[in-house]
Amino acid sequence: MTSLLRPDGPAKLTGTATYAADTRIPDVLYAALVTSTVPNGQVVAIDKPDAPGVVAVIDHTNVGTLTPLPSPPLGHSMIPLQTTEIHYDGQPVAVVLAETLEQAQHAAALTSVTYSDTSPPPIFGRTEQIAPGAGLFKAPTDKKGDVDAGLASADKTVHGTYTTADRHHSPIEPSATIAWWEGDQLTVHTSAQSSQLAQTALAGLFQIPREHVRVVCAYVGGGFGAKGYVWPHLILAAAAAKVSGRAVKLVMTRAQMFSLAGHQPITSQTVTLGATADGKLTAIRHLSVNAAARVDAFVESTTGATTWLYDSPNIETDLKVEALDKPQPTPMRAPAEGPGLFPLESAMDELAVELGIDPVELRLRNEASVDPLTGKPFSSRKLVQCLTEGAERFGWADREPGMREGNWRIGWGMAVATFGAYQAPSAARVRVDSDGHVVVETDMQEIGSGLPAMVQIIAAETLGCAPSDVEVQHGDSSYPPHTGTFGSLSSGSLSAAVQNAASSVMEKLQAQPGDSLADLVDAAGLEFVESEGSWAPDQRGDDYSIKSFGAVFAEVRVDADLGLVRVPRIVGVYSAGRIINQMAAHSQMTGGIIWGYGQALLERSVMEPNLGRFLSRNLAGYVVPVNADIGDIDVSFVEEDDRIASPSGARGIGELGACGVGPAIANAVFHATGKRVRSLPIRVHDLL
Ligand code: MOS
Repeated sequence: MTSLLRPDGPAKLTGTATYAADTRIPDVLYAALVTSTVPNGQVVAIDKPDAPGVVAVIDHTNVGTLTPLPSPPLGHSMIPLQTTEIHYDGQPVAVVLAETLEQAQHAAALTSVTYSDTSPPPIFGRTEQIAPGAGLFKAPTDKKGDVDAGLASADKTVHGTYTTADRHHSPIEPSATIAWWEGDQLTVHTSAQSSQLAQTALAGLFQIPREHVRVVCAYVGGGFGAKGYVWPHLILAAAAAKVSGRAVKLVMTRAQMFSLAGHQPITSQTVTLGATADGKLTAIRHLSVNAAARVDAFVESTTGATTWLYDSPNIETDLKVEALDKPQPTPMRAPAEGPGLFPLESAMDELAVELGIDPVELRLRNEASVDPLTGKPFSSRKLVQCLTEGAERFGWADREPGMREGNWRIGWGMAVATFGAYQAPSAARVRVDSDGHVVVETDMQEIGSGLPAMVQIIAAETLGCAPSDVEVQHGDSSYPPHTGTFGSLSSGSLSAAVQNAASSVMEKLQAQPGDSLADLVDAAGLEFVESEGSWAPDQRGDDYSIKSFGAVFAEVRVDADLGLVRVPRIVGVYSAGRIINQMAAHSQMTGGIIWGYGQALLERSVMEPNLGRFLSRNLAGYVVPVNADIGDIDVSFVEEDDRIASPSGARGIGELGACGVGPAIANAVFHATGKRVRSLPIRVHDLL
């Protein structure tokens, strides 16, 4: 298996990798946002300060008209400064432009906004549930068979309501944009997971041809979904540059990242399972409600995995939302399956306890040979192998009740991981020079996951050269388009595009395996040969169920007096298609597991109920895992090559790692303490 160091490493370590806010543009104006301090109502007046250095204050009176667009591509369909209506705390109501950042921030602080009377916002769980329209990732409801009949025929049933918390992405690099216009040509350097969505949105908002918008974004300092869609800062930077006639730089503050870049919404999910005495599922019901903003009914599609994980004659799922005066949610770090697996995999553990069957054995008895809802074959599914190899690596056979070391109660828990193997159109251009140097160009962002190394490996193996011969140019909308660095889709989709482009170069050169490409280019009297290649999901996506899987095993230690939870070791074994770069894949999954630890034990954004405001707006108050929290993490992959999912054999990995960890830890906590915590994150007082 290939293991390649990232080519972008040295540039990152030496500080020469250029992130959006690093770009130096002469004569730039600095922008600071003025944001609402109320969750609803109207802006009545904005008192603009006469402060030093201020060049303009842009609000609803002078921003100009922007053309409505849906979400996505926008983060929310309410376009900033187009009306005086307030939809959430922290909504931008004005942009101050000044000659220095300090002057802009000073003037923004002095800007006084008067609001109409506001009303206390409704609170999640205490307001009307709405059936959404088409969900983002799946239909709102799915049904197979008769769940009530299946439950009536069961020997044992379990039933519980589980909650997950509002969580914020919290990338290291806050969102940032530098924008300028030359005539009706707009250029933005922005921190985005998809230059393509940014380009689409800006062209639509400003009603200019798509090719008049250039989006530059080679490096992203973490996104986790916060930079997938187009949020107000990008729109306002471009609008402010247009109004002022100057380049505008707008960097979000850490605090603004808590209201202006989305979050994973709080959910309440009820799961009911029925099974025969020998552990065969007779019915699965999963009902889910998530908080949404009033602006758009964002659906957290938690129930997907419930339709494809276990064989059951009767399955029923339902998604609803509650529309609240709060900032807009968005996909975040393993959306959908991430929060959805906690109730399902906790309920499976509860069922195992009820039946007196080992939790791994219960999963094996309910393994699905085809997609349980649709009846389609899986492109490749090696979950059984993950379960058995994971149990072996962890030493699961030695599990027993009442394990203890000093004051630490020890518990072992497990859960299944799964994530939809998303796919999207992708394209790349491959050029071979007469000296053998290869350049691949594609509009992909390097977000930390190691995509340039993946591209090097695929190009090199197709062309028959060394990965070090391949230079990867990325992150400019003028390159062939890659849909976006999100949805764990890049390894599967971009690899196929690069493979197709490189194959096309080989055909042009009529090259045979082992040929020197440089010699062939030279012999043809050319300086270079190049080809574009693309790939898009095809019919196979309709004919097959294409998902990734894994098994996660966790050991917890719970202090018998203090309720402190420690996680000394986690084992994850994954079925994710071909692993193109072992080193980067290992790193990705380790990171995902660490985020899963965050979901299980730390991450929770608390909303102040009278103001509809997230209380924590920094990384001291919003707690994410740090090195000291993390014990041994043992990641491995089963051998797999899924040519149905992608011509490269890859299905994609990133977000799969964050799946299954929350329930594995919660199940281990139950094993250690006998306490079934149905709300994440698990906190000390849950265990006292
Ligand atoms: Mo991920 S939430 O698709 O960045």
